[in-house]
Amino acid sequence: MKHSVLFVCLGNICRSPAAEGIFRQLVESRGLGHLFEIDSAGIGPWHVGELPDLRMRQCGMRHGYRFESRARQICKGDFARFDHILVMDGDNYRAVSAMASSLEERSKVERMTDYCTSHANAHSVPDPYYGGPRGFDLVIELLEDACQGLLQKLVAEG
Ligand code: 4NP
Repeated sequence: MKHSVLFVCLGNICRSPAAEGIFRQLVESRGLGHLFEIDSAGIGPWHVGELPDLRMRQCGMRHGYRFESRARQICKGDFARFDHILVMDGDNYRAVSAMASSLEERSKVERMTDYCTSHANAHSVPDPYYGGPRGFDLVIELLEDACQGLLQKLVAEG
């Protein structure tokens, strides 16, 4: 059975498309692509249909990634479609948990930073949208750490 993973942030143009791209590349580099369904979505509707923010894409390229997904808004159906819903910060956690229609659906929502091992004290992947360029590098650093921990856990689950 496939593992289905949805990454969620506020706008779906910075953090969650980066998480999707980094996790996909990691999974494919291990030859495990056929075992995963991977997607991302935003809580808000503002950027639906757009490519990721140019700053996020350019930062990704510097780190060896291509972020090319189109933004979409999370919907109720995502709770049935995905087994794992990974959010970037506490605000995301509250907003997405509030959309769940059962305890089972709510239990699918987890914080991405819970999977960090090098950055074990990180509690969020901070929103880089209104900050400087260093914020985008930090997003990639935290997501690379978390993606490795997440993949390790899912592979161990079988
Ligand atoms: P993201 O960043 O949640 O990482 O995609 C943001 C992008 C856009 C907005 C907020 C955060 N916005 O308010 O438009």
